[in-house]
Formats: sequence, C-alpha cells, structure tokens
Amino acid sequence: MKSTYSALFEKSSLKSGVELKNRLIMAPMTNFSSHEDGTVTDAEVSYYARRSEGVAAVITACTYVTPNGKGFPGEFAGDRDEMIPSLSRLASAIQEKGAKAILQIFHGGRMVPPHLVDGDVVSASSVPAEAEGSPVPRALSADEVEEIIHAFGETTRRAIEAGYDGVEIHGANGYLIQQFFSPHSNRRTDQWGERLAFPMAVVDAVKKAASKAERPFAVGYRFSPEEPETPGITMADTLSLIDALKQKNLDYLHVSLGEFWSEPRRGVEDSRTRLEIIKERAGEDVPVIGVGSIYTADDAMKALETGVDLLAIGRGLIIEPDWVQKVESGREETIAVKIDQSAQDKLVVPDPLWNAIIQTPGWFPGV
Ligand SMILES: Cc1cc2nc3c(=O)[nH]c(=O)nc-3n(C[C@H](O)[C@H](O)[C@H](O)COP(=O)(O)O)c2cc1C
Repeated sequence: MKSTYSALFEKSSLKSGVELKNRLIMAPMTNFSSHEDGTVTDAEVSYYARRSEGVAAVITACTYVTPNGKGFPGEFAGDRDEMIPSLSRLASAIQEKGAKAILQIFHGGRMVPPHLVDGDVVSASSVPAEAEGSPVPRALSADEVEEIIHAFGETTRRAIEAGYDGVEIHGANGYLIQQFFSPHSNRRTDQWGERLAFPMAVVDAVKKAASKAERPFAVGYRFSPEEPETPGITMADTLSLIDALKQKNLDYLHVSLGEFWSEPRRGVEDSRTRLEIIKERAGEDVPVIGVGSIYTADDAMKALETGVDLLAIGRGLIIEPDWVQKVESGREETIAVKIDQSAQDKLVVPDPLWNAIIQTPGWFPGV
C-alpha cells in the first residue's frame, strides 16, 4: 500500500470490544433479493461474500423487526425465531471472508408499501409522507409502540444467537424511528410525543438485549441529519439527538448522507459540512462513521482528514468489490468508479438489485 493511504488501514477497537482491522465499512444497502418468506437467498449471500474480504465490517441491508415494518420487496426478516438460521447464514458468509457482520435493524413505518403489510401502514401519527400518493398511516396505539420497542430488542437477541458482531439501529432515511423524532410525522400528545422518547427507548431495549451477549457485540445508531420538510428535523434537532445518544454508551454513530461534503440546510449558523459539525458534537465519546459518494482512495483520504473515525462505502463497493484490496496492494488507480453495465456476473449482484440500478438513471455512476 502507498503510505499516503496508510491511515485508512489503522485498526481500532469499539467500546464493546469488537475489533476493526481498518477504517472501511460496507454501508447498509437493501438488495430486494430475499425469499418471499424472509429468508436470505443464495444470490444475496454470494453478493455479500464477494464484498467482505477487504472491509473491517459489513453492515447488512435493513431487516424488519415486525411484519408491519417490512419496507421493501425482497427484504429479509428478523422478526421471528424461525429466521435465526437464515440470519446466521448471512453472518457466517461475511465473517468467513474476514469482516465483522453487523445487522441493520429497522421498521419502515409510514414508508412501507401498503401491499407488503396488508394495507395497515403505521406511524407515530396519522400524517402521510409528502411524496405524492403516500398512504395515510394509522397512528400506533401506546401498546403497539411498546411492542415495536420490544421487537427491536428481540431482533437484537436473534442477531446474537445468529452469530453477528453487532446491530445497527436504523434511525435514518425517514423510517419509523426517524418518524418519531421528526416534528413532521410525530404530532402525538402522549408520552411518545416527546420526540426523543421512542428513539431512546429503542436504544435502551437494544442495549439491554446486547448486554446478554457472551462475546463482544456492538450497537451503533444511524440517523439522517436533516429533513427537507417544514416542519422537519433540523441540524439543531440533530445536535440534541447526538447529546442524548452520547449518554447511551454506543459503539458508533453513523450519519446517513448521499454526499460526504454536504452542508447544513438550516438550524445552525455554520459554514462547515454536516459531518464536521456532527463529529465535533460527538467529540471523543463515540466514533462517527461518515459516508457519501466516496469512490476513490483519494476521496476516502480527504474524507478521513476531516476527523471522522470510520468511513462507509456503499455504491463504490457494488461498482468495485475489490476496492479495499486494491488500495491495500497499491493498485488504487485500477479501482472502477463507474458501474460496468456488462459485468453483472463478475460483480456478483443479484438480479433485483441489478435491475433497480440499471433502471434508475443517475443513481449509480455509469448509468
Ligand atoms: C442500493 C442501495 C440500498 C440502500 N439501502 C439502505 C439501507 O437498507 N439502509 C440504510 O441505512 N441505507 C441504505 N442506503 C444508503 C447507503 O447506506 C448510503 O448511505 C448511500 O448509498 C450513500 O453512500 P455511497 O455514496 O457510498 O453509496 C442504500 C443505498 C443504496 C445505493
């Protein structure tokens, strides 16, 4: 490896004791490829195995914690004990190639396609998302809220039994946990109307389940720093979320962004990037994972120099499964930065994900 890139390969140890062999992580990416019953497919397992040799950890696609949280066709399930062998198969495929396996746990809330949940779309309040045609969700009862919190703990227990090295709580991208934190979607007047209450209760349930693991087991939290809607989450809200999360002894915070260098929309008077502001607020208490349009080794170095602790790469690892190994062996100039549309088999990408990529111009470089 060229010495310019050596910082990417520094080891670290998370608070839970989970060891990371470098600073590079595969970002969570839904692949639409699981079986109808929620078990993982061979194609999905091969896709992960192909990308697990270089990175320190793979964060899986999101898995639903209750049936009414299923957000995507072909999403794999973590909502019942029968799924443990399937979850375990995926964890082993990742770990056999040398990466830690982190299960992303999720509930889609008002963003779920109605046909996946028998039409019963739920959220904090009965407020639809702004996109045209969004279904009007049903507000969860207080009992149902408790059940979903409990389900996050139960899926964590299954992750431990299935052999994962950790879970990531998906509090980002407009899904249920974010819906409770957002003034757009949470208009409740009961105790869950306090916008931090649900995210913190989920963290507590997950941490409690994680404390039973008999080996190092990490708990991370992913959030989106801002929402475009008014009312909606602002950077100021996010800074208060970080303050609350800092009290929870988490292994990392993961900021969901499409562009690493994006700047705040509102809520702070600050010309720095969102990630720089977030990293400063997180301080040294909890590592921060940055992400967003990192395609080359130089992109990654420039990002790391801002002070973030770890970097996640999503699309870059679909386009170039050997990204990390190429930098490690001094061949970084051969990293593909655009998807080769004739190379699906070589890239080991399942059909549903491949078709989604090819049919969505502008999503991936090269399409
Ligand atoms: C195909 C695809 C599926 C994704 N699915 C998820 C997901 O399940 N959970 C999640 O938190 N983010 C998901 N994301 C967002 C990525 O984790 C990441 O934040 C985003 O792609 C920006 O990083 P990148 O530029 O390195 O791809 C997905 C992104 C892509 C491209």
